[in-house]
Amino acid sequence: MSLDDIDFAERYRQHLQRSERPPKPASDWDKRAAAMSHSALGGAYSDAFIRRMDLDGARSLLDVGCGPGTICLPLAPRLERVYGLDYSPAMLAGLQDNALRLGLENVQPIQRAWEDDWSDVPVCDILVASRSGIVADLDAALEKINRHARLRAYLTQLVGGRFVDDEIAALLGRQRPALPDYIYTLNLLHRRGIHPRLDYIETPSRLAGCNRFEDFASKVAWSFGELSSEERAALRDWFEADPQRALRGGAPMRWAFVAWEIPG
Ligand SMILES: C[S@@+](CC[C@H](N)C(=O)[O-])C[C@H]1O[C@@H](n2cnc3c(N)ncnc32)[C@H](O)[C@@H]1O
Repeated sequence: MSLDDIDFAERYRQHLQRSERPPKPASDWDKRAAAMSHSALGGAYSDAFIRRMDLDGARSLLDVGCGPGTICLPLAPRLERVYGLDYSPAMLAGLQDNALRLGLENVQPIQRAWEDDWSDVPVCDILVASRSGIVADLDAALEKINRHARLRAYLTQLVGGRFVDDEIAALLGRQRPALPDYIYTLNLLHRRGIHPRLDYIETPSRLAGCNRFEDFASKVAWSFGELSSEERAALRDWFEADPQRALRGGAPMRWAFVAWEIPG
């Protein structure tokens, strides 16, 4: 069997199914929009992402799964036109509020899902999809990216397929199979004759930054669902055993940064 015999598009779909992650509706993201809105105004992650981009010859940008504008807003002053595409109306409202606050007049929201018809979505010089790449059909998403970018595309995707330290999941007895990670993207691009650049961006755990156990427990509940009293007790023991580790929220996250030139 050679690599060419493997149907990576199908393997991705099967892997996603095995990972037992029900599709997230836009309403789930609506609920997170207010809390995420501040992250749009710069930070270590968006700086690291933007530092790795090449805007040479670019006038327009499409940010897919833009959220509150984490990537597209800091770039807007360097471009003529910026489009933020997201299926969550509350995220797009956050994008518009942030653009207004920053005095940016070249930012246009597009309410759309990865899975929708994109025939009226503008083709832009640069396309980015930052931390928004867990889609039902990755091959179809990559096809959309290549059709909607003229010069370059930039994605960040999970490394290892988990959002939180597996040790915490084990502690709760809630280990789930990992989600598919960036490796499928590399293989699906390779199949198209595209050989992307690969880099990594490390970010603090999404459970980081809690001095109080109650705050930590609510963050854990957002990731895993409601906690029983036994689970809370096990979590409290872990939290109190090592305050520095608790403050870090366990192991940090790693994102794969995948960048390629759009074939001419
Ligand atoms: C983790 S946030 C990332 C936001 C921003 N790109 C960043 O890196 O901070 C994921 C975003 O993707 C959007 N999203 C998730 N699934 C989507 C889908 N199927 N179609 C369109 N947007 C989606 C969510 O609404 C959310 O705004």
